[in-house]
Amino acid sequence: IAITFDDGPRRETTERLLAGLAERGARATFFLIGKQIEGNEDLVERMQAEGHQIGSHTWNHVRLLGVTEETIRQEVGQTEAALESLLGGEDYWLRPPYGIIDDAGLRWAGSPVVLWSVDPEDWKDQDTGRVVGSVLSHVEDGSIILLHDIYDSSVDAALQIADALSGQGYCFVTVEQLLQAKGIQPQDGTVYRCAK
Ligand code: NI
Repeated sequence: IAITFDDGPRRETTERLLAGLAERGARATFFLIGKQIEGNEDLVERMQAEGHQIGSHTWNHVRLLGVTEETIRQEVGQTEAALESLLGGEDYWLRPPYGIIDDAGLRWAGSPVVLWSVDPEDWKDQDTGRVVGSVLSHVEDGSIILLHDIYDSSVDAALQIADALSGQGYCFVTVEQLLQAKGIQPQDGTVYRCAK
């Protein structure tokens, strides 16, 4: 299973999440908003050091629909550049805000594009119990789960989900590791929702 977190980093919540994931030996994937990296460099470095995958969620959390190549270059390219200067030249995958990207955007993305198969809409009521229940009832082998590490309720939910599913024999890996485990070769400009 790949558990993924959008819209961070946010110190008040992301730091606690990282500590909880480390305690459990669980890997995750973080899609970061570029403009929130500044001031949180230590958290981003910690993500990398602790084996999490890091990707881009654009610089300003924009809708990648009907945008120009120049906008993509700014929104995605600027975020990748910030990550590269902080962490080194890796391959930073893209999660488009709202899960929205058009064909032109896919062509210009320059990386695999990650959506999800399990979405408990954790932002809606920020109710930990409901979010945990929703994920546990929809999850299966190869799922990609969408959460947001900017809510305390989602951090609590993520750690409860990790405990419950570890007990069922699931293993928490990055999206890249999940695809690899299923023999899927990631391609630039291709959308991945799960690994089956
Ligand atoms: Ni988002």
